[in-house]
Amino acid sequence: MNIVSKLKENPFVLAPMAAITDNAFRSFMKEMGVSIVVSELISSNGIKFGSEKTLAMMKFDSLQHPVGIQIFGDDPMIMGEAAKKVQDMGADFVDLNFGCPVKKVVQKGAGSAILKDLNCVRSMLSTIRKVCTIPITIKIRTGWDDNSRNAHEVAQIAYEEGISWVAIHGRTRAQDYTGLSDWDYIADVKASAKLPIIGNGDIHTAAQAVERLKTSGCDGVMIGRGCLKNPWIFQEALFLSQGSSGVLQKSHAEAFARLRFYLEQNCNEHIVSIQLRKFAGWFSSGYPGGSEFRKSIFQVKLPTEIFNLTLDYFNSVNKFNQIDTSDEKFLMGGHG
Ligand SMILES: Cc1cc2nc3c(=O)[nH]c(=O)nc-3n(C[C@H](O)[C@H](O)[C@H](O)COP(=O)(O)O)c2cc1C
Repeated sequence: MNIVSKLKENPFVLAPMAAITDNAFRSFMKEMGVSIVVSELISSNGIKFGSEKTLAMMKFDSLQHPVGIQIFGDDPMIMGEAAKKVQDMGADFVDLNFGCPVKKVVQKGAGSAILKDLNCVRSMLSTIRKVCTIPITIKIRTGWDDNSRNAHEVAQIAYEEGISWVAIHGRTRAQDYTGLSDWDYIADVKASAKLPIIGNGDIHTAAQAVERLKTSGCDGVMIGRGCLKNPWIFQEALFLSQGSSGVLQKSHAEAFARLRFYLEQNCNEHIVSIQLRKFAGWFSSGYPGGSEFRKSIFQVKLPTEIFNLTLDYFNSVNKFNQIDTSDEKFLMGGHG
């Protein structure tokens, strides 16, 4: 299916997150009602050299379609070769990371550093477009810093170069993860853009997702950290946006079992334990006794032990509603 048509059907997209939106988590999220998934950022140099680890990161299950692979790099030719590889692997689209604020990445002229030079944006897009026939999308920040916000210009170049959409995290590179995503600015870019725009940043609840979609006029909204505390956020947002009054049945036990299933299909026992602890800890945010629970899962080693403690914990809190913890600092760093 055409990825832009998919947005019309369900505009709630999973944000790429390094070490989080891997094959297992994307499959899980797909079951949890997300529209479109994108991999974490993958190095175009790693793809060029065929590193085993990199190629493993590019794997995706067929149930994830439409699925995109996100690549980053500073060299248009190498990015083009990487995009071609993404295409050959059967992904539905290739997403270009023009938003990563991390020093190691921007020092090499990749990620958000590309936004500093609009000629560089154009040459990257036109070079990749020439070798890649699947849709190309880009994910940007609003600009390098407050004095050089240029998402309007980037969106215009993207349109001219045949890009399918621009996803905008509403912070500048200089902001890193401080301040708030500027949705007024995103709405402003959307109002003048000639291609689909996906807004992103600081959506913590389904109600906010629906509100942002409506007030910004965006074609989709992308949610990252919000789904780590509430993995039902996509389903709830879709329900709400369709005016459904139905009550969503939520079972932490069932959801966690599905996540474990996908992790065990993809990772060795050690990684399964690490990931289960991470997700169980995040899902427990805003429930009573969460910090004791998080301590307890660090006292055990095996996936089964973590899983059982998690089921016991969620059984003990299932009468409680999750408290809004969005004012607490949470994952204030990432690659976009
Ligand atoms: C842990 C973490 C890892 C991230 N990794 C990526 C990445 O690989 N590629 C990317 O484009 N953005 C990445 N991001 C940025 C998110 O996609 C998103 O733009 C940002 O978190 C703001 O959205 P949110 O408030 O909904 O989380 C990452 C963010 C976090 C928190």
